[in-house]
Amino acid sequence: MRTPIVAGNWKMYKTNSEAASFVRELALRIAAYSNVERVVCPPFVALAGVAEAVVGTPIKVGAQNVHWEDQGAYTSQIAPPMLVGLAEYVIIGHSECRAYLGETDEMINRKAKALLAHGLKPIIAVGESLAQNDAGDTDAFVSGQVRAALQGIDSQSMPSIVLAYEPIWAIGTGKSASSAVAQQIIGGTIRKTLEELYGVQVADLVRIQYGGSVKPDNMADYMSQPDVDGALVGGASLKLDDFTKLVEAASRAKGS
Ligand code: 13P
Repeated sequence: MRTPIVAGNWKMYKTNSEAASFVRELALRIAAYSNVERVVCPPFVALAGVAEAVVGTPIKVGAQNVHWEDQGAYTSQIAPPMLVGLAEYVIIGHSECRAYLGETDEMINRKAKALLAHGLKPIIAVGESLAQNDAGDTDAFVSGQVRAALQGIDSQSMPSIVLAYEPIWAIGTGKSASSAVAQQIIGGTIRKTLEELYGVQVADLVRIQYGGSVKPDNMADYMSQPDVDGALVGGASLKLDDFTKLVEAASRAKGS
């Protein structure tokens, strides 16, 4: 049984004080849904404030990116050891970082390995563009992204890894993939790729989220799909009511 994971990717929203007061209130609202892993991923400057605010609550903290080196002359970058103690999860491979920061599959693979070496858990985002989708290339492209990100990572590390299928055309657009399509790509493409790489037992353990215009009104639909193990959420995770409803829907759908 895979524990569902709902993660709020706050992108470049919320100051340190806004983030800390938000999670204090969020913790009260989502405390009851203990069958769901609940994660917030604030901007770097809010990590310490949020990490302090969640002490004693069930909320876990994620960072939004990382460099692969332990330290060095990389102006503006954040190294894995700097995140230890502040974050448990780290999003890597987000399409916005691939598009705006020029991140390649090879860089994402290095980041994944660096995180694992420091006991941090990668949330690896993959997903196709609209043009690739229109051309019918989704399956091959997403499978290729998964293989590239996991190159050289052994099966023992896989339970620490979360994957997120985020079709680029659905991010922040209000256009979401249907739950059937999410199931098809997550179950039929991504989990199948994991099965080819690591065998069925390992593939069955790995959690795979859907992301892209997830809202309270479509969350239950995604969560009703057998291979969708939660959501990576942008816009809706910035609002207390919406975040609470997303967690509640995940809890109800996957509850035991
Ligand atoms: P939205 O939920 O705003 O579409 O963003 C999705 C996303 O990019 C999460 O990482």
